[in-house]
Parts: sequence; structure tokens; C-alpha cells
Amino acid sequence: MRVRVDGVDPSRRLIEFARRNAASARVSGRARLEVGDAAGLRWLEGTRDRAISTGTPHILRDPVRVLRESHRVLKPGGDVWIYNQARVSSQIDVQKWKGSFASGEWRLYGLFLIFAKVDPGRGYSRGQAVSMIEAVGFPDPRIRQRKGEIEARMTKRA
Ligand SMILES: C[S@@+](CC[C@H](N)C(=O)[O-])C[C@H]1O[C@@H](n2cnc3c(N)ncnc32)[C@H](O)[C@@H]1O
Repeated sequence: MRVRVDGVDPSRRLIEFARRNAASARVSGRARLEVGDAAGLRWLEGTRDRAISTGTPHILRDPVRVLRESHRVLKPGGDVWIYNQARVSSQIDVQKWKGSFASGEWRLYGLFLIFAKVDPGRGYSRGQAVSMIEAVGFPDPRIRQRKGEIEARMTKRA
């Protein structure tokens, strides 16, 4: 199956990074990657087969708006796949990570610690996640944890 992908991220650097990855995987012709906001997509209602999100729910300011937008652009019977680390800190060996820093990166790490205090990210219980998903109109959220990762899937009514 030849899949076509539209991808958005508000960060221009992330989009450039994704475009380089698409080019090295030789799929640039099938991946339209642009600066954008998942809470306000420019695509028409009922035009997409699937919405996929990786590593993002914990930093979204308004996850319900993003879910609502995904629901809007999906075709009836289309689905959403969401993947997020269960706990970011469980994914890495902190000592090994710090040992890999180049000298200039220690300053960035300092900024990261300040940023993490100001905006520590958001976690949701299973019940909170199910309520948000059902409020948007997806009737059947399936949420499961596999190793350090949470997977959530839901389908728009046909
Ligand atoms: C941890 S990164 C994950 C990046 C990429 N999805 C991946 O899996 O490699 C989280 C990303 O979410 C993006 N993000 C934050 N708010 C967003 C929004 N409203 N819509 C789309 N992306 C958003 C950030 O710019 C950041 O690049």
C-alpha cells in the first residue's frame, strides 16, 4: 500500500529535521511536512484515514482541542493512534545521558532544568484520558501500556 502522510509541528527545526529524515528514507514525495498546530489543522473535514501522534500528548496545552481536530478531519471509520512515553525518565539512563554531553550542552541542560520547573509537562490517569477522548465523540478508546510506552487507539463512528 502506498501511504501518503501530512505532518505538522509548530517547530520549524523539527519540520526541517523530519524532511531530512523523509529524504534519506526516499519518501519525500509522499510526505508533506509543514509548520502547523495540531489544535488547528487546515485540512477539510472528513478527509483523512488515520491520525498518528508520537511523543506529544504530555506537552500539549489543550489535548482536547487536538483530539477534536483529529476527529473533525477523520473520515467516518477513521482512527487515531497515539504513542507517548509512560514516564520520560524511565526511558533513559541519566548518568549515561549526562556523560554524553559536549561541554556547551551543560549550559543547555541548565536551561532544560529551569524550563522543566516552569512547565513540567502533563500526565493523565487512564480515567482522565478516557473522559477526554469520549467527550470528543470517540466511543471506544483502547489504552494500554507496553514496556515504557502508552498506546491509545480510538475510531470515529462509521
Ligand atoms: C517530544 S517531541 C516529539 C516529536 C515527534 N513527534 C517525534 O515523535 O519524534 C514533541 C513535539 O510536539 C510538538 N508540539 C507541541 N505542541 C504541538 C501542537 N499543538 N501541534 C503539533 N505539535 C506540537 C513540539 O514542537 C515537539 O516537536
